[in-house]
Amino acid sequence: MKLRRLAGAGLIAGAATLGYALAEAHWYTLRRVLAPVLPAGARPIKVLHLSDMHLTARQRRKVEWVKALAALEPELVVVTGDNYAFADAMELALEALEPHLARPGAFVFGSNDYYSAILKNPAAYLFGPTDSEPERQRDLPTEAFRQVLTRAGWSDLNNARGQLELGPERLATDLVGLADPHLDWDRMPDPVSHSQAALVLGLVHAPYLRAVDRLVADQARLVLAGHTHGGQVGLPLYGALVSNSDLPARLAAGLHRWRSTDSFLHVSAGLGTSPYAPVRLACRPEASLITLVPADA
Ligand SMILES: [Fe+2]
Repeated sequence: MKLRRLAGAGLIAGAATLGYALAEAHWYTLRRVLAPVLPAGARPIKVLHLSDMHLTARQRRKVEWVKALAALEPELVVVTGDNYAFADAMELALEALEPHLARPGAFVFGSNDYYSAILKNPAAYLFGPTDSEPERQRDLPTEAFRQVLTRAGWSDLNNARGQLELGPERLATDLVGLADPHLDWDRMPDPVSHSQAALVLGLVHAPYLRAVDRLVADQARLVLAGHTHGGQVGLPLYGALVSNSDLPARLAAGLHRWRSTDSFLHVSAGLGTSPYAPVRLACRPEASLITLVPADA
């Protein structure tokens, strides 16, 4: 009898936690971060970091929320991949980004910009990196999506470099990015001299150690990544248990100094989840407004 009561209580607690986690997946939040990466004396620069929207055709509220972020008037918008879950949501993803396309921007893609979402065992996520889609046909309209962004002047940084002049002081900035390491598609672009650049920014979807190391070795002062979903299901007051990569789970979201360098890694916990595991626990869906400030500020 006692056992049955205990089992009943466990079931109720489980159902309540699931209900909460289903709700939390819709509590979009803006996280504000200061990143001390600019040269001394430079004026602050606002960077909006969007990641892992995983949009489906029914997620209009998320679209409106992302569109409204244009009011922050960032000087740069970066998107670190996994924009939409199925082909029928591509237009919606473009609608979400549309008000941002008037600003300078840069992007890399994640596996879910090439392959639509498929049903996997959600528990597998807790026991190491998930499969990286090796044998499937690419079934998303990747090139059509890419074209809209590049025609707006955004830098496509999938194994590529870019340059822009950032903020009111037109700070010479070099950009470098990698295609998704979760798919093993990351190849460093040819080396260049950054002697004219006041700042180097790196982008990659999945923050595998080798990828962040290579971007930092290429002099990126700040590397921006997504993919982890901040662990997606964390423990309250403890945080992420996994990063879905070889990155330590404690780095699965937020800004952290990279090893013993002067560089930083910023991981966005992202705005979505796989449509087949639409839960988040102790890990709100987020966009980040990163204010770049001088390192000595
Ligand atoms: Fe993702």
